[in-house]
Amino acid sequence: MANSDGPGATPAFDTSQPTIARVYDALLGGKDNFAVDREGAATYLKYVPDAGRCAIDNRAALVRGVQFLVREGVDQFLDIGSGLPTQKNTHQAAQEINPAAKVVYVDIDPIVLAHGRALLATNENTTVVTADLRDPQGILDHPDVKSHLDLSRPVALMVVGIHMHFHDDEKPDEWVRTIMDQLVPGSYLFITDFVDTGEPLQKAMEQAGLESLGNGWIRTPERIEQHFLGMPLVPPGLDFLERWNPSAPDEEVPDVEELLPYQKILMAGIAKKV
Ligand SMILES: C[S@@+](CC[C@H](N)C(=O)[O-])C[C@H]1O[C@@H](n2cnc3c(N)ncnc32)[C@H](O)[C@@H]1O
Repeated sequence: MANSDGPGATPAFDTSQPTIARVYDALLGGKDNFAVDREGAATYLKYVPDAGRCAIDNRAALVRGVQFLVREGVDQFLDIGSGLPTQKNTHQAAQEINPAAKVVYVDIDPIVLAHGRALLATNENTTVVTADLRDPQGILDHPDVKSHLDLSRPVALMVVGIHMHFHDDEKPDEWVRTIMDQLVPGSYLFITDFVDTGEPLQKAMEQAGLESLGNGWIRTPERIEQHFLGMPLVPPGLDFLERWNPSAPDEEVPDVEELLPYQKILMAGIAKKV
C-alpha cells in the first residue's frame, strides 16, 4: 500500500482488509469507510449492540479530557492514534478555549492524513502526520512534530483508544515511556482503554475485536494503571467513562452498579508528569 505524507500526495487505501480507523469511523456513523470496514463494524454490533454508543462516549470523554488539559494551561497536544476527523476533534475542543493551542495528530492509517488535510487546510496550529506508535522516536523526530511542538514546554500526550489494539507482549507501555521520558515536567498523559472487570459484555467486545480486526484486548484496571508509568493520576483517577470528568471530579456520578453493561467497557485517566 503506497503512502506518502509529502505535500499534495494522495495515499492509496487497501480496501481488502478493514482498518481500525475506518471501522471506528463506521461505528461513529461516519462516511470515511469501505464495505469491508462496515462488515467489521457489523461484527462489533453483533457482539455488542451498543458498540456505537461506546465509540460516541469515548469521543465525549476525549473532549472532556482535552478541555480539562487546556484549562490546566496546556497548549500543545500530541494526539497519537487520533482516528479520522469526526464531530468534535482535539483541535476544536482545545482551540475553542485557547485558539493558539497547537495540535499534532498522528495516525498509522493514511486515510487519516488524507481527510485531516482537507479539514485542517486553514488551521496553521494543527497538523497531521502519518507515523507509527511502535516507532516512538520516529514520531518525535518527525519534522512536522518538531516544527509544531516546543518540547521545552509541557505537552499533553494523548493515547486515547489505542492500547487495546496491542497485546501486552508487544509492550506498548515502553513506546509511550520513550515519548514521556522526553517531555518536560508539567506534561500530561491521557489514556482510555478497554477494561476487564469480569463483565460478560467486556469479553464480548474483545471477541468482536479479535474476529473483525485481529486485536482489541481487554485489561484489568490494575494493568491499565500501569500504562501511566507510575505518574500520579489527576482526580478522579482511572474510572469508567460515564463516571470520569477531570474538570469536575467532585461532581456526583452514578454508582458502578447503576451503569449499563456497555458503559463498563472503557475507562479513562490522565496522569501528570511531576
Ligand atoms: C479506536 S481508534 C481511536 C481514535 C481516537 N483516538 C479516539 O479515541 O476517538 C484507534 C486509532 O489508532 C490508530 N492506530 C492503530 N495502530 C496505530 C499505530 N501503531 N500507530 C499510530 N496509530 C495507530 C488507528 O488507525 C485508529 O485511528
